[in-house]
Amino acid sequence: MKIAVLPGDGIGPEIVAQAVKVLDALRADGAKIEMETAPIGGAGYDAAGDPLPEATLKLARDADAVLLGAVGGPQYDTLDRPLRPERGLLRIRKELNLFANLRPALLYPELAGASSLKPEVVSGLDIMIVRELTGDVYFGQPRGIEVRNGERVGFNTMLYSESEVRRVAHVAFGIAMKRGRKLCSVEKANVLECSELWKEVMIEVSKQYPEVELSHMYVDNAAMQLIRAPKQFDTMVTGNIFGDILSDAASMLSGSIGMLPSASLDEHNKGMYEPIHGSAPDIAGRNLANPLATILSVAMMYRYTFADLATADRIENAVKKVVAQGLRTGDIWTEGTRKVSCSEMGDAVVAAL
Ligand code: IPM
Ligand code: MG
Repeated sequence: MKIAVLPGDGIGPEIVAQAVKVLDALRADGAKIEMETAPIGGAGYDAAGDPLPEATLKLARDADAVLLGAVGGPQYDTLDRPLRPERGLLRIRKELNLFANLRPALLYPELAGASSLKPEVVSGLDIMIVRELTGDVYFGQPRGIEVRNGERVGFNTMLYSESEVRRVAHVAFGIAMKRGRKLCSVEKANVLECSELWKEVMIEVSKQYPEVELSHMYVDNAAMQLIRAPKQFDTMVTGNIFGDILSDAASMLSGSIGMLPSASLDEHNKGMYEPIHGSAPDIAGRNLANPLATILSVAMMYRYTFADLATADRIENAVKKVVAQGLRTGDIWTEGTRKVSCSEMGDAVVAAL
């Protein structure tokens, strides 16, 4: 298996280095994997004047899976929009057709105290958010900033074709079938035509999955319910921007955004794997970041692209073990646990493996 390793910016290189340690340990154990590293985001701009250099895209295309850290940093915020790090990330998602983004929010019992919600509200939490990743207001045309009637206006287009909704619906129903067989589709159909179509297509597709109980929720209510009673959810499916927002909210249920991995898949289960958090420029280069979301992303790579569930379980169990041992990076530290650095956490996971 060929893995393209794209560390990116900020804490990206530090957290990816820990995930690579895990992959190296698996290789020492006989796993047949090759890794090659390339720049993306601000690092891509610095190296080649492009947040998604051609060589990086080619490497990612030729690979079976992509491991990505994070992109972005304040030094790039004044660049022309197409040159900004985030555009590199959006382009690689689009170029590789990674339309289905899986974001599991799972609470490790030992981290219940690290959540900002009461332990009884979050204990036992296990939600899968399926976020559509290559459409919506992120990509819809027209978009821009221009002068109209003597003042500047900014505009974007929320747009979904029925085929885009249908394919992500099939992924979400498929996942719901393997979980609790409850799927909640989140939209804003009381206001947006785009959401009205989304809901109609979800209902059409649901006819092929009679075992799955489909429900519908407006996004504002879903945001509220995630905080009020998150355990009512099993699998959720939603569009690109609603999924971006709801998955950040859901991450806090699990104690820290530093715990949440993700998989972005095309229709052949080729995937890009990345933590859902950003590049955290404020702590970059200080060996403080939590590498567990990135390591858990490697577990997802084994589960979804390599279809090697035993190794996926092995990595997840190693993470559970270090958490149970009381090791904590700063973001999940609570009184009575042991604060460790990013690299110490990576070493501990390798040892537990
Ligand atoms: C995410 C991030 C990205 C997104 C940014 C960095 C472009 O927030 O993966 O959730 O909005 O998709
Ligand atoms: Mg986000």
